[in-house]
Amino acid sequence: FSAVEVIRTKRDGGVLSDGQIDWVVDAYTRGQVADEQMSALAMAILLRGMSPAEIARWTAAMIASGERLDLSGVRRPTVDKHSTGGVGDKITLPLTPLVAACGAAVPQLSGRGLGHTGGTLDKLESIPGWRAALTNDEFIGQLQETGAVICAAGDHLAPADRKLYALRDVTGTVEAIPLIASSIMSKKIAEGTGALVLDVKVGSGAFMKSTDDARELARTMVDLGTAHGVRTVALLTEMSTPLGLAVGNAVEVTESVEVLAGGGPADVVRLTLALAREMLDAAGLPDVDPEPALRDGRAMDAWRAMVRAQGGDPDAPLPVAAETELVRADRDGYVAAVDAYGIGVAAWRLGAGRARKEDAVSPGAGVLLHKRPGDRVRAGEVLYELRADAPSRIPAARTAAEVAVTIADAAPVAPPLVIERIG
Ligand code: URA
Repeated sequence: FSAVEVIRTKRDGGVLSDGQIDWVVDAYTRGQVADEQMSALAMAILLRGMSPAEIARWTAAMIASGERLDLSGVRRPTVDKHSTGGVGDKITLPLTPLVAACGAAVPQLSGRGLGHTGGTLDKLESIPGWRAALTNDEFIGQLQETGAVICAAGDHLAPADRKLYALRDVTGTVEAIPLIASSIMSKKIAEGTGALVLDVKVGSGAFMKSTDDARELARTMVDLGTAHGVRTVALLTEMSTPLGLAVGNAVEVTESVEVLAGGGPADVVRLTLALAREMLDAAGLPDVDPEPALRDGRAMDAWRAMVRAQGGDPDAPLPVAAETELVRADRDGYVAAVDAYGIGVAAWRLGAGRARKEDAVSPGAGVLLHKRPGDRVRAGEVLYELRADAPSRIPAARTAAEVAVTIADAAPVAPPLVIERIG
């Protein structure tokens, strides 16, 4: 095979053979296909698309680029959740211990944030002492002991994806459904989970802005999981408004702990329970109701055990940013919209996110909403607060947030949180 031939085949709208796919993914992982050649191929795939058979083969080749974990020794049924990413999406934090408290084991390999969407590991790293890196033995041991692990994926899991994702990020080729689906599913299948629930976000704060695109991505991923023996379902969920009231790192941990204590914002609780029910069903525990575990302390106990097992102190005070600016309503009315993308950008500019992979995030920075769409507001009332380590971070964040939050005379119609189920 030659890289140029493979690129030409896709550039001209052809179908890649199994042999071409296996060869190019393997040769790229080993450094024998150059970054510029893989960039050209990724762009051809973005423009020309891939057939279901090509996507399946591409995913299998990415899995085969590294190791596949064997979780068959874990006594409980394993089930994971993956979100395609959003603003204020801290659901993994309460959901993982909740599902563990209900009898399943949750092997959650998570990532860091890039751009305006937050990363689960960045949020958890605001807990003093907590560490994201575990060896495979530690990962499986903790899964066995506590039923809940949230940690970084090891270097040996789908290394082809690690390389390709970094390349796509800088070549405008992230937004290709075949590449997104194979990227996500190769990691989840290699992780060894028995079942998987996908939370595919739709709206301004998500990768997929339209329900049609989100549905196609969800269907592609569900088919890939099923073909590899992983029981997979997807929920399409609303992401034009941030989830909950907190957007950042430590502030999202605090909100998650409120949910685990039986409180927290209604939308976060509802989505956590909807995903928990899907996960328990997929794990073969359809009769377990997760709701009591949030009220009676079992989910909180599982959270504390999970945090401690990774060196964290669940009782330690979380970092607080030095600067706070309160932004007030300039008129009476109803909050008409709180745009997820704009709030995500504001949190990012405050320091909660990173501009380059190697940047550090500020644990205390972020946006705290005081009002949500539909809330009545009077002139002078606080709409939201901006938190940052340095005052210089505030003005640019304020500009993004001011456009995102609008007030009108009438309350808006609330869209449904769960739009569709694809199973
Ligand atoms: N998340 C991933 O892991 N891969 C993608 O391609 C997009 C989002």
